[in-house]
Amino acid sequence: MTTALITGSTAGIGAAFARRLAGDGHNLVLVARDTKRLREQATELHDRHGIEAEVLTADLATEDGITAVEERLARRRDGVDLLVNNAGFGNKGRYLEVPLADELTMLKVHCEAVLRLTSAATGAMRERGRGGVVNVASVAAFVPRGTYGASKAWVVQFTQGAARDLAGTGVRLMALCPGFVRTEFHERAGMGTDNIPKWMWLDADKLVAAALTDLARGKSLSIPDPRYKTLMGVVKVTPRALLGGVTSRTGRKYGPK
Ligand SMILES: NC(=O)c1ccc[n+]([C@@H]2O[C@H](COP(=O)([O-])OP(=O)(O)OC[C@H]3O[C@@H](n4cnc5c(N)ncnc54)[C@H](OP(=O)(O)O)[C@@H]3O)[C@@H](O)[C@H]2O)c1
Repeated sequence: MTTALITGSTAGIGAAFARRLAGDGHNLVLVARDTKRLREQATELHDRHGIEAEVLTADLATEDGITAVEERLARRRDGVDLLVNNAGFGNKGRYLEVPLADELTMLKVHCEAVLRLTSAATGAMRERGRGGVVNVASVAAFVPRGTYGASKAWVVQFTQGAARDLAGTGVRLMALCPGFVRTEFHERAGMGTDNIPKWMWLDADKLVAAALTDLARGKSLSIPDPRYKTLMGVVKVTPRALLGGVTSRTGRKYGPK
């Protein structure tokens, strides 16, 4: 039986990964900050699918939190075969409206934690000659969209570069770039969503199914929906100035402060 570790497992896309991987018979290590919610999730997945679900409470914006997950990933006994670096969040506001400390926290969770956890996991996986890492980025990686988009662009570049460097070792890395998905993300960030067209919303379970198919096919970049594949094709040939005007508005309607 194989083991998957998912960060940000308790809600949204992470919870969809947990449901799907448990359904496929993988044991799980569930990582987030809310211990009560993690325990409830572990019990539910164990009872429903008969898998072992371990709870690891960790705040990936902190040194202690990142270290705790690194140590679990480096462990030889019950080693982790699949890492899903999914934990992430949006900040409420545009550049200079968001406190610098919150921007730095975002870089810690989206970049530093992803670098360190990927490194801890792939070190152990390379020794075993097998394993996989899914780093959840966003289509925001391809458009001008503040620190959030920049952090996700880093995730894509880092993951594709590392995938190439580890080619032939049996370890696969893939950056996953979802479009808009209905999760807790927008509410947590204080973002209004009524200006996002209906057709742009993706279903988390379908997204995860497509992502795992792409990983099995050996892709290093997954944009799992035909609508967004087409859109990203258009983005590639659109002038940056025009792109910035559209993308900085879409889905960035913030409520009262
Ligand atoms: N939803 C979208 O439209 C969308 C689109 C593209 C990309 N994404 C990306 O997809 C990923 C998942 O987002 P989501 O939409 O599923 O968000 P979500 O529903 O808000 O879930 C976020 C998860 O991450 C955990 N988390 C947040 N901060 C954390 C921290 N500092 N340390 C550890 N765990 C933390 C949360 O649990 P706790 O609060 O208990 O820690 C929760 O389990 C993110 O990387 C996001 O950027 C989302």
